[in-house]
Amino acid sequence: MEYKFPDGFWWGAATSGPQTEGRFHKAHRSVFDYWYDIEPEAFFDRVGPNVASNFYNDYVQDIALLKEIGLNSVRTSIQWTRLIKDLEQNTVDEEAVRFYRAVLDEFLRQGIRPVINLHHFDLPVALYKKYGGWESKHVVDLFVQFATKCFELFGDRVKDWVTFNEPMVVAEGEYLYQFHYPNLVDGRKACQVIYNLNLASAKAIAAFRASKCAASGGRIGIVLNLTPAYPRSEEPADQKAAAFAEDFKNNAFLYPATKGGFPESLEKVLAADGVLWQSTPEELAIIRENTVDFLGINYYHPFRAKARETAFDDDSGWLPEKYFEEYEMPGARMNPYRGWEIYPQALYDIAINVRDNCGNIPWYVAENGMGVEGEERFRNEEGFIEDDYRIDFLKEHLTWLHKGIEEGSNCFGFHMWTPIDCWSWKNAYKNRYGFIAVDLATQKKTIKKSGRWMHDVSAQNGF
Ligand code: BG6
Repeated sequence: MEYKFPDGFWWGAATSGPQTEGRFHKAHRSVFDYWYDIEPEAFFDRVGPNVASNFYNDYVQDIALLKEIGLNSVRTSIQWTRLIKDLEQNTVDEEAVRFYRAVLDEFLRQGIRPVINLHHFDLPVALYKKYGGWESKHVVDLFVQFATKCFELFGDRVKDWVTFNEPMVVAEGEYLYQFHYPNLVDGRKACQVIYNLNLASAKAIAAFRASKCAASGGRIGIVLNLTPAYPRSEEPADQKAAAFAEDFKNNAFLYPATKGGFPESLEKVLAADGVLWQSTPEELAIIRENTVDFLGINYYHPFRAKARETAFDDDSGWLPEKYFEEYEMPGARMNPYRGWEIYPQALYDIAINVRDNCGNIPWYVAENGMGVEGEERFRNEEGFIEDDYRIDFLKEHLTWLHKGIEEGSNCFGFHMWTPIDCWSWKNAYKNRYGFIAVDLATQKKTIKKSGRWMHDVSAQNGF
């Protein structure tokens, strides 16, 4: 074996409630459920979240498959739109409580550590319509009530909690780049949403610490998508562009989560442009005092930045692109199905960044993986998909991660996106990411070659 990982390393995979469960018996619609209902053609092949990978009905057999491929930990999420019946009063749906308890019991029975996230792009649409969703601090408080309810109801079964998955993607998808309902382009609102999501996370952490969960050995973190910003060149203008992109895309969440405050350089620019968020001293104190116990980091691709070559068009109001343009690096290695650059070395850079700039806080890779279209063409005569490209992709990333750990970064696990092919938002089932394939017509699930490989990696704690 060439690469051995620290004792107790998490070998697992991540998914979410809205992408797996299906909409069976759900009290409310999320922004994605609603968007699909009003505009199904916006989704690949018009496939929506109604059935997803049928986890609501299949969880016992699904979790058995996860055990079979050797996962020792799995992240999924509790859906606000399923658990809470009355969003203002925070009353629960008893069937949802039964379902989530049964799921958690099944994970524990199979010896798989459940990591539970509280928000995976699934804001109840009613709260968008009534209050403007994450633009509103009242919604922040409703979220904290929901989180508190989860700690009370499931804290006996769950030790590892996550407040948000990729909060930056909420701001980007809903308010900048139009890939989440309501598909707005509004940089000022995006800034307020970034602040409010940080506040919601800190308030939920405060509620967690006041609950029985913390006293009984639980811990709480956040999952951030980090896209390290690399400048096109050594030229000061390119360096400056990349530094702003790093602040806006990464540090706007990384700093509050780990240092308790926003990057001053970012605040300065936003204030000068008149788009700094509305905050109060009391809220800033909550953010300062409630940093995370651990970090989950999703890494898929880097961000390459260059100084603007064209004038910024003010007509659509303030946007972060005022300070950079995306640089399409010639010769970049691409995943053509998703259009994302493959750059495994960034995982090492992330490890070192967390070590040197975030107090070497405990962290794990909470998502990394490769979405591939048309994987059925790789199904062999024995009936399983030979996804060697995925194994190679994982090995390369793990090799760089290993180097970061060897150099002292405090990383305790690696989760691939995703255990079982699941519903991917607008892309629906176009690209498949799983260790386990799903036949959408029959919901038959079969382990891919990468799933068998993961079994061995997990058993040997390395490869
Ligand atoms: C992450 C999300 O952004 O990447 C997942 O946490 C998502 O929810 C995954 O499915 C893969 O991205 P996509 O857009 O291809 O589904």
